[in-house]
Amino acid sequence: MSFEKTKKIIEEGDIIVLYLGPQNMHSFEVTEKILNKKGEYVDNVFQTTYGALKVPSLIGKEYGSKVELSKGWAFVIQPTPELWTTTLPHRTQIIYTPDISLIIHLLDLVPGSIAIETGTGSGSLSHSLIRTVRPHGHLYTFDFHEKRVEIATEEFTKHGLKDYVSVQHRDVCLQGFGDDLKHKADAVFLDLPHPWLVIDHAVDALKKTGGKLCSFSPCIEQVQQTCIKLKSAGFVDIKTHECLQRELTVHYKPVPQLNLECLKKKHTIEDMPLRKSEDQEKILTVSHSPSLPGHTGYITIATLPPLFARIIIDA
Ligand SMILES: C[S@@+](CC[C@H](N)C(=O)[O-])C[C@H]1O[C@@H](n2cnc3c(N)ncnc32)[C@H](O)[C@@H]1O
Repeated sequence: MSFEKTKKIIEEGDIIVLYLGPQNMHSFEVTEKILNKKGEYVDNVFQTTYGALKVPSLIGKEYGSKVELSKGWAFVIQPTPELWTTTLPHRTQIIYTPDISLIIHLLDLVPGSIAIETGTGSGSLSHSLIRTVRPHGHLYTFDFHEKRVEIATEEFTKHGLKDYVSVQHRDVCLQGFGDDLKHKADAVFLDLPHPWLVIDHAVDALKKTGGKLCSFSPCIEQVQQTCIKLKSAGFVDIKTHECLQRELTVHYKPVPQLNLECLKKKHTIEDMPLRKSEDQEKILTVSHSPSLPGHTGYITIATLPPLFARIIIDA
């Protein structure tokens, strides 16, 4: 139940994040026993790069504690949607935190919003959407892959989130979002190979007072098709963003300094000598990482105006 509210003490059944470093984190369920490859229940021991952790030893400890591993130590922390995105078991490609933050902002999601998402995939985005819309809002998430629906449903239940999310097995291109959601949603999010096939269904699901639609696509050709369809379906303010995260490296760097002694001798700035490198002071500074993390996807956002103000173009 680790996602539902802030907890002090670790209990059996919690999902925890074991933090060994910013690039070295794991999430798992705290259980006394675990099934091995032979199908037998054995003591739950989790292996890390710093040795083994006896998982039951976590029960009763405070979140944030430093815990012993056989060859080092780690911190045990409560998961957040961001940490879950970093550590979750991948069943599909997932959406990462920089894109997620922009998607939630562009969709105008707030506590109380009714949001639709498809496809559910590995549930990376879903966890952040749920945190934003709960406690009074709801996420309806759809996937046509039966096993993914089953696993996502189990995960949301285990994470204490089942009251805020409904997972449905459905091909949204063929079947839409269903009569129950007709004119109920504030926002629709699409992460599908053919988002343009769902736009008419999204119009049916969005409130008569209008709403937002956001589509995530890796290829610009998908964006083109989607934008054409959005326009003909009456959407306005159609914009596509690409969110590129740029890392800053924090380090000490020798900085050339002007030899101010020379000022007294009336040198010009140009011919003023720099101090020798051994005299150079190292200052704490940042520099940009030499490479940018690669392209993830294009984020297209569009607004559906209220019903009375819509202009629908026959394609
Ligand atoms: C890239 S994954 C979504 C990942 C998800 N956004 C996340 O962050 O974990 C795309 C998902 O869409 C589902 N999908 C593709 N076409 C679909 C359709 N027509 N109806 C419902 N789900 C579909 C796939 O089964 C897959 O699980």
